[in-house]
Amino acid sequence: MDKIVVEGGNRLVGEIPISGAKNAALPLLAAALLPSGASTYHNVPGLEDVVTMGKLLRKLGWAVEAGASRHSITIAPPTNAKKIKLEAPYDLVKTMRASFLVLGPLVARYGKARVSQPGGCAIGARPIDQHLKGLQAMGAKVTLDHGYVEVECKKLRGATIVLDMPTVTGCENLMMAAVLAKGRTVIENAAREPEVEELALVLNKMGAKVSGAGTANITIEGVDDLQPIEHAIMPDRIEAGTFAVAAAMTRGDVLLAGARPEHLEAVIAKLRSAGVQVVAEAGGIRVRGTGELKAVDIVTQPHPGFPTDMQAQFMVLACAAPGQSVIQENIFENRYMHVPELMRMGADITISGRAAIVRGGKQLTGTSVMATDLRASASLVIAGLVAKDKTEVLRVYHLDRGYEAIEKKLRAVGAKIKRGKQ
Ligand code: EPU
Repeated sequence: MDKIVVEGGNRLVGEIPISGAKNAALPLLAAALLPSGASTYHNVPGLEDVVTMGKLLRKLGWAVEAGASRHSITIAPPTNAKKIKLEAPYDLVKTMRASFLVLGPLVARYGKARVSQPGGCAIGARPIDQHLKGLQAMGAKVTLDHGYVEVECKKLRGATIVLDMPTVTGCENLMMAAVLAKGRTVIENAAREPEVEELALVLNKMGAKVSGAGTANITIEGVDDLQPIEHAIMPDRIEAGTFAVAAAMTRGDVLLAGARPEHLEAVIAKLRSAGVQVVAEAGGIRVRGTGELKAVDIVTQPHPGFPTDMQAQFMVLACAAPGQSVIQENIFENRYMHVPELMRMGADITISGRAAIVRGGKQLTGTSVMATDLRASASLVIAGLVAKDKTEVLRVYHLDRGYEAIEKKLRAVGAKIKRGKQ
C-alpha cells in the first residue's frame, strides 16, 4: 500500500493544472450507456473511481478503450445485444457508490436492471430512497432482494417527482432515466450542482430535451433515441478548491489553471473572508496567501451553498487562523473523520453534534495520520504542507480515488512531497 510523505514549511508558487471533474466524469460515463453508438470523452481524470466505472461498464458488456491521449475514453455498446448484462455486482458498487448511476440509463434503455444496494459508507448512511421513489413515480416496479435493487419497466413514463432533498446522484440517475421515458418528467427540488448541469449539457448533445438544469426545477421531455457524442469534461471544482486552500495556507501564489470561478463562488467568498487574495484570470483562478489568516465560520449546504466536499480542507485552514471558527456539516452525518487525526497533529477542535469548533492559530506538527474518506485524506495532505517536520499520510488509495497525481502536482509548485510504500 502507498503512503504520502510531506515535509512541511514550503511556499507553493507556480501553476497547477486542474483535471477533469470526478463527479462529472462518473455520471457522464454512465450516460454513455444511453446512445446506440460509441461516445468519446476527453479531459477524463486519471482516477481510481474512473477505472472502477470503466470496469463496471465492461462488466455490463460495453467496450471501454483509452484513447491515444491518456485522458480520452471511448465507450461502445456490444455489437451483439445478447452480450449485455443488466447487473451491477456488489464488489464494484461497494468499491464505489457512484456505480449506482448505471441504474437510470439501464432501465431507460433496456427496461430493467439489477444493481447492488450501496449500503452505508465512511461519511454516513447515504440512503438511495429518492432514486427509487423517482423511478417508481415513472412507473417502475422496484424490488429489494438479497441486497440488490431490481427495477423493471418496459417503458418508463414521465412524472412529476418532488425530491425530499436535492440529492446530486439521485437527480442524475432520474435525469438519465427520464430522457427516454414517454412524456414529460419534472424534477422539483433538484440538485443545482455544476455537475448536474454538465450532465444535462451532454444529454442534450445526445439529442435529449432537458431544460432547467442548474435550477431547482428540471424538465425532461422524453425522446425515442439518443445519438453518441464527443465531449470534453469540465474542470474539477473540488480539486481546484483543495489546491486553493493549500496555496493560501503556505502563503503561496498559485494559478489554478483551467478552474472556473463561477463553479466556486461560495468557496472563493470564504477564502476572501479568511484574508486570502483570489483573482479570476483568463487562464483560471489565482490564489495568493498574503497576510495573516482570519477565522471563518462555515455551514455546508447543497450548491450554491458551501460544498461539503470542501469542509475538511477548510477545517485545516481554520486550524491555522488565530481565533475561533465554527464549522457545521449539514449534508453528511459522519464527515469529521479528519478531526481526530488533525488533533494528533496538534489541532484544537471540539465536535458538538453537527458542529466543529476550531480554536486556531497553533502550529501543527507532523506525524503518521490516515483517514477513511477522500476529502479527509486531502485535508491531511494540506495539514502536512504547513506542519512542522514530517507528516505521513497512510492509506493513500482514498486520495487516488479522487485526486489525479496529487503529489506530482504539489511537487511541481514547490512542495516537498513524495509517495512511498507503507
Ligand atoms: N440522501 C437521501 N436519500 C437519497 C439520496 C441522498 O437521504 O436517496 C441524502 C444523503 O444521505 C445526504 C444528502 O441526501 O445526506 C445529499 O446526498 P447526495 O445524494 O447529494 O450525495 P451523492 O449524490 O451520494 C454526491 C457526490 C459526493 C458529494 C455529495 C454532496 C458524486 C459521485 N458524489 O454524492 O462527492 O459529497 O454529492 O455534494 O457526485 C466526493 O467527491 O468526495 C463525494 C463524496
